[in-house]
Order: sequence, then structure tokens, then C-alpha cells
Amino acid sequence: MIDLRSDTFTKPLPEMQKAMWAAEVGDDVFGEDPSINKLEAKAAEMFGMEAAVFCPSGTMTNQIAIKNHTVPGQEIICHEYSHVYNYEGGGIAFNSSCQVRPLPGPNGKLEPDSVAAALQNPLDHHAATSRLVVLENTTNKGGGACYDLDTIDEIRAITNTKGLGLHLDGARLWNALVATGQTAEDYGKRFDSISICLSKGLGCPVGSLLLGSKDFIHQARFIRKKLGGAMRQAGYLAAAGIYALDHHIERLAEDHEKAKLLAEALEKSTWVLPIEIVETNILIFNLKPEKDIEQFNAHLRQAGILHIDMGQGKQRFVTHHDVSMEQINQVVTQIQTLP
Ligand SMILES: Cc1ncc(COP(=O)(O)O)c(C=O)c1O
Repeated sequence: MIDLRSDTFTKPLPEMQKAMWAAEVGDDVFGEDPSINKLEAKAAEMFGMEAAVFCPSGTMTNQIAIKNHTVPGQEIICHEYSHVYNYEGGGIAFNSSCQVRPLPGPNGKLEPDSVAAALQNPLDHHAATSRLVVLENTTNKGGGACYDLDTIDEIRAITNTKGLGLHLDGARLWNALVATGQTAEDYGKRFDSISICLSKGLGCPVGSLLLGSKDFIHQARFIRKKLGGAMRQAGYLAAAGIYALDHHIERLAEDHEKAKLLAEALEKSTWVLPIEIVETNILIFNLKPEKDIEQFNAHLRQAGILHIDMGQGKQRFVTHHDVSMEQINQVVTQIQTLP
């Protein structure tokens, strides 16, 4: 099978597995897992932030951050495509009793003007208090798009003036850093809290980190405990994370290259509408309305290619280290041989 459904399907490579089995571990609920302590300190240092906490998933790091920034009844501004709004099981309502103000914007990105226009009047007791803005970088449902720092600065200026927090869902921030040349510190400086994932393009089996100030992360540990996310000898997982941060970031450029090759083949196909963006490893494209979606899906399936049909002709390919260049060439051939 050639699995282009998601980079979450990556499995740990042999060298990562070796690092995992060699890990020194302890009870992390007591703060005594040396590998987790090392990973948290390493990530915080990379971003120039004070502290980090290791969690089982990116959903949990986002949800802890949102809970930590808000009190019930407040409002969170995010993109209408965002993961926190669409794919976290209604967690914002469930965990934080807050409401969401989803906004449109190109390729999953918020625009400063629409953020400013969405802010509630803090003196109007009819309105929920605007408390937090959440950005996602790269955008998942937006097709792997990256923010530029100027846009983030404009949004940060608004949140500063109005006293809102700014959280980054950086599940694939690594891809954005590699694609744009921005640094982790560029982000550490601009956000109050950042969630980063190890289990996507970096190839770890499990794990995400939430970064922030010492106080913020101290509180985050209380929330993680309540959610059942405090683990024991999870240093085996943290060791994979340390390995990935040392060895797997730069190689994401290969995944971006693979996505571009697929895009080039799709652009030449009579089946596909012009593709909007391919900046990183997520490629979202639309079939022409007159084309038979089932026939397209069956053609790929028969060739052993798995992908996501997002509905209404929208299709998604995600490239990652478990799909080789040779397999990408096979997919290109299948695109070229669409009837
Ligand atoms: C943008 C984004 N944020 C958060 C998550 C959640 O990560 P997890 O699957 O580890 O809960 C994902 C998962 O794919 C994602 O794409």
C-alpha cells in the first residue's frame, strides 16, 4: 500500500526504535523521568520559552492550552477550518465551556482585519468576552499553508491591545519552519502558548508538547492530570521525540518535494482543477465537476494508493517518510494513466 492519507501514519524508523529502547525512564507523575525532563527542556530551549509539558496528543495540548487561557463563557477566535474547532470532538465546549467564533480566511489562515472585526465589545454584557485567538501553522484543512511573520505580528498587536491570549496549534510547525526558513524562536517570541506534535512528519509513535511560561505550564500540569494525560515511564516515547528533534526536522524538505511532484502531475491531468497552493506536505485538490469521483477513487485504490476523499470532489494527499520517492513516482504514473 502507498499510504497518502496522513503523516500520522508514519512509524518509528529503526534508529528511532533503538533510541527508544535505550531510554532512561522514571515516573513522570513524580517528575522523575529523565528522558521526559530532557525533552521538555530541549523543546523549551529551542523555542526560547520558559517551560514545556509532554502530553499524549496534540488534541490534548491544544485543549489544555485553551482551558488554561479561559474561564467558562468566554469566546475563542479561530479559523473555520481549524483543528481545534472541527476535529477535537467539541472539546472546547466539553473541557472549557467556551464558545467559538470561527472566521473565514485564505487557506486556513486568519486575517488581522477579520480578527479585529470579530472582537466583542468588552463593555457589552450581552456578549461573550473575547479571550483567545488560536492560529494553526501549517494549516491542515487549508492545505499545508504557512503564515508569514508579518501577519502574525499584526494579529499579536491586536491581541496585545485588547488583552487576549494567542495560542498556536503548531502540529506541523516543523514543516512551516523548513519551508519558510523561519525559526522556532520566531514563534516562541510571538505566542503565549504553542502546541507542537512529534507524531506527524517527525515520525514518532506518540507525543506532543505544550510550551509557555513557567506559570502557564505549571497550571497546564494540573489540567493534564485531570484529563488523565499524566503518564508514568513515558520516557520511551520522549526518547523518540529527542531523536526526532535531532534527526528528522531537516528531512521534511523531502516530503515537500514529494508533494510538489504530485502537484505537477495533477496539474497536467485533465481530471483536476488548478491547485491553489503546495507549500509543504499537504496537497488538497479538487476534481473537475464533470469527473466521476468514484472512478477516481477506484483508480487509486486498485493501484494500492490510499488517500482522503474530503467530499464534494475535494481530495487530499499527505506525503511523509513512509512513502518513498519510488512510490511517489508510482502515484505520478497512476495520475498520468487516469482514463
Ligand atoms: C493541525 C492539527 N492540530 C492538532 C492535531 C491533533 O493531533 P493528535 O492527533 O495528536 O491529537 C492534528 C492531527 O492531525 C492536526 O492536524
